[in-house]
Amino acid sequence: MIRFDYNNFMSEAIGAEHGLAEADLASVEKKADAALERMAREKGAGRLGFLEVPYDETIVRDIRAYKKKLGGRFDTVALIGIGGSCLGPQALKNALSHLYLNELPGAARGDRCKIYYFDNIDPFEIEAARDVLDVTKTLFLVISKSGGTVETNANFAILLDMLKRAVGANYAEHIVAITDPEKGTLRTLATAEGFQTFPVPDNVGGRFSVLSAVGLVMAEFTGIDAAGLLAGARNVVQRYYGRGLRQNAPLLNASFHYLFDTVKGKRINVLMPYTRKLFLFADWYRQLWAESLGKNTDANGAPTVAGLTPVSALGAIDQHSQLQLYLEGPNDKVITFMKLDDFGRDVTIPEFYPDQPEMGYLSNKSLRALNRFEESATELVLAKAARPNCSLVLPTLTAETVGEFIMFLEMQTAYAGYLYNINPYDQPAVEQGKKYAFGLLERPGYDEFRDRFAAGYVKKDAFIL
Ligand code: PA5
Repeated sequence: MIRFDYNNFMSEAIGAEHGLAEADLASVEKKADAALERMAREKGAGRLGFLEVPYDETIVRDIRAYKKKLGGRFDTVALIGIGGSCLGPQALKNALSHLYLNELPGAARGDRCKIYYFDNIDPFEIEAARDVLDVTKTLFLVISKSGGTVETNANFAILLDMLKRAVGANYAEHIVAITDPEKGTLRTLATAEGFQTFPVPDNVGGRFSVLSAVGLVMAEFTGIDAAGLLAGARNVVQRYYGRGLRQNAPLLNASFHYLFDTVKGKRINVLMPYTRKLFLFADWYRQLWAESLGKNTDANGAPTVAGLTPVSALGAIDQHSQLQLYLEGPNDKVITFMKLDDFGRDVTIPEFYPDQPEMGYLSNKSLRALNRFEESATELVLAKAARPNCSLVLPTLTAETVGEFIMFLEMQTAYAGYLYNINPYDQPAVEQGKKYAFGLLERPGYDEFRDRFAAGYVKKDAFIL
């Protein structure tokens, strides 16, 4: 089971000025109780689908049956989606499939598909993909909960055109739509075109959707055990849901972050794994945390300021980059190490210029030990510099532990939203920018935004050549 080590949050370890004490935790207890009540209320009202998806194993059965039906027809998956419809699957693939899956020779790849992502709208990327993608052997996963996301639709349009040119009338057999079970244009299209579909339940928000078909379809096609992910997530729900502050690690960690922000003025939330396998989870979490908590209005409609700014870092690389700032720059960060106890593998550094003391000492040392020592040393120097840090520790890297990790951070983020008394499930500000972009694209119904853009966005001559 995932472990939460918060020793270096406490004043005993990092001093009273920057560390928290029991009294601080006691001061948040009432809010924590209210958070538990709100979660129970919203779950009871059927609004918290992210807590329910781990219990739906029929989805895994359906995905496996579909994969079996295809019988190895495709050797590549192209995932078209953005935000919550891409970051989670990307993180899963990196953590649990081969880091260089696409480059593996066929025999070593087995029945796992190569994977390409199309999330950004970037002519460089599409053009590069054209050079490597054999669309005749590619299954396209078009993922959009709303079914109307402009970036996803633009990429889909371009890739669909490529596909139609290559395979003609059979193009629909190459497309899987992962979207709302009933609503949205993608759903309508999928029905009309006869695309294979998998649902994103209505009550599961985009950034909370990785354990729905959004992540699970891609997981099964890249050799990841979707059932294991769900089992791990269930462990966390069963262990913590409804438990009080001291027995509920996601709520406790949310409370610590809330206190560091509101009492200690720490406005930055750093997530730092020490393996690239977990690095994309830092990006996934950055979206989860940022879009959920960055709100200027509370649940009662009153103005508020909520949310620490999430930053991702990767050890040991960022020891040579951001760490200097973390240690001697402003003491405004809360750092979370994402640790992996057992890598399940190691590499011994071979005999290496034994006559050169600066190199020879590495001979016959374990690479994993070096990694672990650097991680522990960073944790220690941060604590000595009174910089709050904690660790989320995965015992091993399996579908189960990753499922636990995902659910832990989803629950933690939801609890944090409740502590700030905001709605962690909407993203009103993001919608604003989209409307202006639609206006500029002359999408029907958005003229008002095009006009407002033209009237309000006048750049002065404040630039130099
Ligand atoms: O968390 C969210 O709701 C967003 O980040 C969405 O995932 C993102 O905007 C993509 O939306 P959709 O899946 O509707 O295309």
